[in-house]
Parts: sequence; structure tokens; C-alpha cells
Amino acid sequence: MKTLLIKVDPENPSAEALAPAAEILKRGGTVVFPTETVYGLGGDATHSESAEKIYAAKGRPSDNPLIIHISKPEEAEPYAETNKLWHRLARHFMPGPLTVILPKKDTIPLTVTGGLDSVAVRCPAHPVALKLIELTGLPVAAPSANISGKPSPTCAAHVIEDLDGRVDCIIDGGECTFGVESTIVKITGEDSLILLRPGAVTYDALCCVCSDVTVSDTVMNKLKENERPLCPGSKYRHYAPEKPLTLVGGSEEARISYFAERQKEGAVIICYDEQAEHLESHSVITVGKKDDLEAQGHRLFAALRECDSLEGRCVYANLPSTDGFGLALYNRLIRAAAHTVVYPDQL
Ligand code: TXA
Ligand code: MG
Repeated sequence: MKTLLIKVDPENPSAEALAPAAEILKRGGTVVFPTETVYGLGGDATHSESAEKIYAAKGRPSDNPLIIHISKPEEAEPYAETNKLWHRLARHFMPGPLTVILPKKDTIPLTVTGGLDSVAVRCPAHPVALKLIELTGLPVAAPSANISGKPSPTCAAHVIEDLDGRVDCIIDGGECTFGVESTIVKITGEDSLILLRPGAVTYDALCCVCSDVTVSDTVMNKLKENERPLCPGSKYRHYAPEKPLTLVGGSEEARISYFAERQKEGAVIICYDEQAEHLESHSVITVGKKDDLEAQGHRLFAALRECDSLEGRCVYANLPSTDGFGLALYNRLIRAAAHTVVYPDQL
């Protein structure tokens, strides 16, 4: 199919520029749009056929449910059973990078939720996403706009690389702010939830609003054999570059000399700006200063894509700390590396 490309002002998109995209969604087509986390591949969430088109475009297994995007928290009511905790989360974090899983209502077809009786709801904080949803008057189902298994796209060039010719429209709204996908929580009671995927709304921030926050085992650890995860997406290979990736932990000194040795053997190194000063400049991809987690999040998926275009057999990157936003980076990288970690201090 021929994909329509629309470029808009990310801060102040005009209704006129977005109108063709809204029409496509209303007619059951697929539109890629920017959010503050990553780009999403949208379709009408009340329509089974739109969901099927999304799964087909991504090459995604249809048992992996989609998030529905709304422009105001109140719009969740026709589609999900909300409770007091939902309203508290909405007041504190919406619009923003938080997705909440609630029992679903019949208005959302089972094709959208991968057969589950729950639905994931998110109100994104991006002017383009919000205006587009408003113009359609629909909840918009959208997974990340990458081919299944690849890192999520954080700019239009990544989307075009993966989905040009596979979707009806791509809206170019520049680079995404956070660069990692939303935090996902599942509400389990009036004051309890489970953190299923960490993102920019951190564990500590959730604890300020809810007194019983459990972190799902799959956030940091490998799934056990035959285990069915609460978040179906966590059972699939994800985020991984084509080249094998190994994470490097331990002291700063040991990491730097380990990176230098591996680089001499022909590896690609993803590292902090400060570490790059101790390495040759070829085959190095920097993601920001060591303490600047926001910059690292913003650059992470672009770096994972970039390493495949550089020469080298394999890739090494820092094992992030699990504090604050670091947990989101840890969660993505540990899966991209299929849990392969080395500690050179201990070798
Ligand atoms: O930031 C984001 O959340 C982006 C932007 C586009 O909004 N979207 C995104 O969607 O990351 P996706 O489909 O790539 O990841 C959603 C994850 C999947 O792992 C899926 O299994 C899980 O959410 N999920 C969706 N609905 C669920 C449900 N009802 N129960 C459990 N997990 C669910
Ligand atoms: Mg995804």
C-alpha cells in the first residue's frame, strides 16, 4: 500500500494537518502517530478489523494485547471498569506516560485485548496524539510502531524503516521525549496494584499514590519455563539488535578496561559520554552522561538500532542501576541482552 506521510508541528499541530489521518482512523485504517514515550501504530479500538490490521502490519502475535489511547481520563468510562485508585492515578499522572490495566467492558472487542477480559488504558501527553484522538472521537488502539521484536521507534525515520508501505499513514512529529514506553500497572484492588512494565512514572512515584505496589517478577527476571506472564508482551523477544548484546556491570574502572579490550577485538560499544573518552572513537555509540538517565532513555532505542549499522560482531553496553527511571532502562536492556551480563571485576 502507499503510505501517506504527514509532517506536523509537534507542539502545536493544526486540526487541518491532522484531518486526513483522523479520517483514515474513522474509516478503519492504520495511522502511526508520535507520543511522549515512543511512536504508536493506531487503529479504531472499537473495531476488530482495525486491530487485525495493526497485528498484520507489525507482524505481531494476536495474543499480545493492545493499549487503548484516550484524550481525557473520563473517556475511559465507556470501555473499562474504573475504581478509586484509577481516579487517583489519573489525577496524578494523566495525561502522561502511564498505562493502567482495568477490567474491560463489551465495547472493546476481544481481538484488541488478545482474548483477555482486561484492557490497558493510556492518556498520552503529546499534543499530536491528543489532538488526533480528539478529532476521531474514538479510543485509539496502538502498540509501539515497530516491527515485532525490534526496538520501539522514537522518531519518524525509525517508523519509516519498519512500516513504510505497511500502514495507511505516518505522522512525523519529531523525536519522542522519554524514548522508552509507558509504565504499565494492573489495578488489583481499591489501593493495590502490580507494576508490570517500568517507565517514566517510577516505582517511587506510584508509591506516593498507592500504598500497596508490587513489582512483577518479570520486570527484572527471566520468565520461568511454562510461566504465563501477567503482561503477555513480556514473553516475547524484544528490543534486541541483530548482533548479540552483553551488559557489563561492576566498577567503573573495570567496565572501561573491559570495553576497551572488547573494542580491540572488534565489538561495538554503547556507553556513557565520559567512558567514550577512554575508547577509540570508531564503533562507539554514546547515550549521554553517566548520571543523566533522561538522556540515556531518550537515546536508548536509537542506539540499539544504530549498532546494527556499524561494523562489528557483537555489542557491549552498561548494566543500568535499578533506581528511579533506571529500572525502565534496566528492564529494556536486560531483555535486549537476553539476560546476558558479565562482571569484569569478578573474572
Ligand atoms: O508508551 C507506550 O505504552 C506505547 C505508546 C505507543 O503508547 N505503547 C506500547 O504498546 O508500548 P505495546 O503494545 O508495544 O506494549 C504494550 C504492552 C504489551 O507488552 C502487552 O502485552 C501489554 O502492554 N498489555 C496490553 N494490554 C494488556 C492487558 N490487558 N493485560 C496485560 N498486559 C497488557
Ligand atoms: Mg512494543
